[in-house]
Amino acid sequence: MANDDYKRQAAERALNYVEPGMKLGLGTGSTAAQFVALLGEKVKAGLDVVCVPTSEATAAQARALGIKLTTLDDCPDLDLVIDGTDEFTNDAMLIKGGGGALLREKIVAAASSRLIIIADASKRVETLGKFPLPVEVVRFGLRSTKDMIIEVAAGAGCVGDIVLRLGPDKQPFVTDEGNNIFDCAFEAIDEPDSLDMMLKMVPGVVENGLFLGMAERVIVAGPDGIEEVESPDYTDFDDLEEAP
Ligand code: 5RP
Repeated sequence: MANDDYKRQAAERALNYVEPGMKLGLGTGSTAAQFVALLGEKVKAGLDVVCVPTSEATAAQARALGIKLTTLDDCPDLDLVIDGTDEFTNDAMLIKGGGGALLREKIVAAASSRLIIIADASKRVETLGKFPLPVEVVRFGLRSTKDMIIEVAAGAGCVGDIVLRLGPDKQPFVTDEGNNIFDCAFEAIDEPDSLDMMLKMVPGVVENGLFLGMAERVIVAGPDGIEEVESPDYTDFDDLEEAP
């Protein structure tokens, strides 16, 4: 089976978490696009949900499918976000932003009660960092910002090539928020919390692609079937015995 089939299987499973009347966040990327396509079918069949997209690309797809869209300004508290990822660990830590939408994705995820990630099994890693960490930066002062990223990353034990992402036109890639992205090939991020904290201290850095303790679960589809990797911080209140 191809990765696209696994992405679709994970997206199908994620539909189980969607309930009528929900306020949903819609992720970005090829896996999230599979979910949006399936959601579009449900909406056509009568499902009533309202959604906040995490990118212009997702907004365009959802609009074309007749999915009702809103903004975080009109709807600041979401029930559930379904999004993809570039990497995930067995404790549901993530690297996101390969598709360039990490800033809106993080804002939307933070505004939601739940974040559920869908992925094919090729995205699973022991340690984050094999996928170059995207760091979104303002366009002013790129060189100084890069130098500071190198410095703080070294302080968190991370060294590697840092390159300015280019678009298909070979010009610096510009995010939906008008920023650029540095892709940081650290290979292994042994202290993700400290790297996240250090990167946030660099003035030109807007956000980074580490999503730590944000995802409730990762729905993984692969040759061995579908598995749900739960965050160790997640509590299923339905499973707790009622107090006497
Ligand atoms: C976009 C993202 C995507 O979720 C991530 O890049 C995965 O994409 P795909 O599903 O196409 O592999 O973080 O910013």
